[in-house]
Amino acid sequence: MRIFICGFGTVGQGFAEVIASRRDFFDKRYGERAIIVGAMDSRTYAYDPEGCDPLGLVERKKATGRVGETEYTDSVEVLKGIEYDILVEVSPTNVETGGVGLLNIRHALESEKDVITVNKGPLALKFRELIELAKANSCKFRFEGSVGGAMPIINLCRENLRGESIMSIRGILNGTCNFILSKMDKGQPFEQALKEAQQMGYAETDPTNDIEGYDSACKAVILANSIFGRDVTFKDVKITGITSITEEAIAMAATRNMVIRLIAEISDTKLEVAPRLIPKGHPLGITGTMNTAQIVSDLAGPVTVSGRGAGRIETASAILSDLVAIMDERVVG
Ligand SMILES: NC(=O)c1ccc[n+]([C@@H]2O[C@H](COP(=O)([O-])OP(=O)(O)OC[C@H]3O[C@@H](n4cnc5c(N)ncnc54)[C@H](OP(=O)(O)O)[C@@H]3O)[C@@H](O)[C@H]2O)c1
Repeated sequence: MRIFICGFGTVGQGFAEVIASRRDFFDKRYGERAIIVGAMDSRTYAYDPEGCDPLGLVERKKATGRVGETEYTDSVEVLKGIEYDILVEVSPTNVETGGVGLLNIRHALESEKDVITVNKGPLALKFRELIELAKANSCKFRFEGSVGGAMPIINLCRENLRGESIMSIRGILNGTCNFILSKMDKGQPFEQALKEAQQMGYAETDPTNDIEGYDSACKAVILANSIFGRDVTFKDVKITGITSITEEAIAMAATRNMVIRLIAEISDTKLEVAPRLIPKGHPLGITGTMNTAQIVSDLAGPVTVSGRGAGRIETASAILSDLVAIMDERVVG
């Protein structure tokens, strides 16, 4: 299988490292390698139809800031000119237009290529269109890492719980907000907790997407569409972020043995992100940067999962699981 990676930052490089570390696994399972034929960053790309050395790509990016020697201006034109089987789309998320990720994914599916992405923008805006495009072109389109990073949730619901009726999902889908709220539990004011999250590298310089609940809302949309079969977009989510949570509210919750957490709630009829009171000790009362979700299905009842919601290798682990699922079908059959 020939893989091309769009976006060679934290996740793209982590995925290249994971592919390098799993060479024996692919050899043994399929008798063939998963080859990275190239990668693209914002200005350059590398391409070798025989396969690039994944660690060489990472080294070059780290040393020069460029993944390849060839400059480009239009990523779709680059895709048109190369041979590959699977596009791994990990360029920056744009929740207003879908960004370059949407263009890349659309083009790859139209060209009958399989796609794996963790880029939330295209999924939160154009889910139905992309799923139908994949179906029309007999392509695999997978996106496990777009919600919860390494925490298995989409494939868990669609594959492990297959045949069940999923009634609801409630989850903490943004580690930055949870870190801030956990610090506020200990008496820190919001602004100070946010500053610490930024110093630790959990929150971006502009933290709006996280603290206003937009990032959680994108993930809620992906779960609503992929697990509940809904046809919703970002604008359908009722969103309240964490910026107006006061120290007094946190203290008041504590007197009732509760904590406040930013919870995404998804069901056939619900699509909401808002701060909720959670009893201390409940799985959704988790502290720190972890993600967690409680899935309720008709036969299994409540199933709780948690895991690292972000990170170079953690997110790459979700991409690997999608890659293996695709190769199981394409290579093993
Ligand atoms: N980081 C995580 O833990 C995590 C977890 C789940 C999902 N995600 C999602 O994964 C995606 C990548 O995240 P990241 O953390 O790896 O971001 P990142 O470190 O900022 O890397 C983004 C990469 O995309 C490249 N890029 C920028 N504009 C591009 C364009 N127009 N065409 C092609 N490539 C372009 C950048 O190029 P330069 O290197 O030249 O700047 C960079 O290599 C995002 O959609 C993010 O939401 C990330």
